[in-house]
Amino acid sequence: MTNQVQDLRDTIRKAITSQRSKIVTPLSSLLAVEDAIGYVPREAVEEVAKLTESTVNDVWGVASFYTNFRFTPPAEHTVEVCWGPSCHVLGAPSVLKAILGHLKLTTEGEAADGGITFKYNTCLGACAQAPVMSIDHHLVGRVKAEEALKWVRRLHEESGAGAVRHIGSHGRDEDA
Ligand code: FES
Repeated sequence: MTNQVQDLRDTIRKAITSQRSKIVTPLSSLLAVEDAIGYVPREAVEEVAKLTESTVNDVWGVASFYTNFRFTPPAEHTVEVCWGPSCHVLGAPSVLKAILGHLKLTTEGEAADGGITFKYNTCLGACAQAPVMSIDHHLVGRVKAEEALKWVRRLHEESGAGAVRHIGSHGRDEDA
């Protein structure tokens, strides 16, 4: 086993065993892995099976049932636009149109240059700040199409997306 694979397995095990809930299931474990590394590799399915005393087939069954799991690593940056009711009503369609147009996508997926993964989200948990988008897990609230486009263009130009204005855990704007 290479060091890289060993490190991946260690990270996966840590994600599975650090779940806060007392009830640990294959689904909760797969979600924990996806939260930690952004996707569910074959190694994760094997580790989840081991640690939840399930079969690999059972875990694959759960993973493949839910369309939200991805099985390949995401791009360097991830952009999500919330498509929940509040965001939809308050302007998400124009934000979405601008981003998809810039990335030359018609739906979720990887931009042609491979640098950005685009995803829909059903609620980013900051409805009071709708419409909301997320850039590498930093929430941007009350976002307008032009601003969204600026952030996405910047991701292409700069390394990292650390300097975004994001919403803190209490829904207030913060400077990152
Ligand atoms: S509906 Fe968009 S953050 Fe909740």
